[in-house]
Amino acid sequence: MTETWIEAALLSSVPQDDVIAVAVEGKEIALYGVDGNVYATDNLCTHGHARLCDGFLEGHEIECPLHQGRFDIRNGAAMCAPLTEGIRTYPVRIEGHRVYLDLG
Ligand code: FES
Repeated sequence: MTETWIEAALLSSVPQDDVIAVAVEGKEIALYGVDGNVYATDNLCTHGHARLCDGFLEGHEIECPLHQGRFDIRNGAAMCAPLTEGIRTYPVRIEGHRVYLDLG
């Protein structure tokens, strides 16, 4: 499969140790800044209708604001109940001051 990199945000708009939501090609994506890296997941929780950008980021785990399920933002793994399904993650590339995603 070929990679298609799409510009998602300016690097400066992604906060460190926090999360923002961006719209990329009609999809809502959560972008996280941790240790100088940027990670990307779907923004909608796999358990219910909650947006992870409203959650709480601790290290590499985002806690959903609705029922406190936690995902590992590096691989999308569901870390605790009530989550039963991981969240989709996306490859991130940083070029200069811009963040690109491969939405696959
Ligand atoms: Fe996210 Fe329930 S909606 S844990």
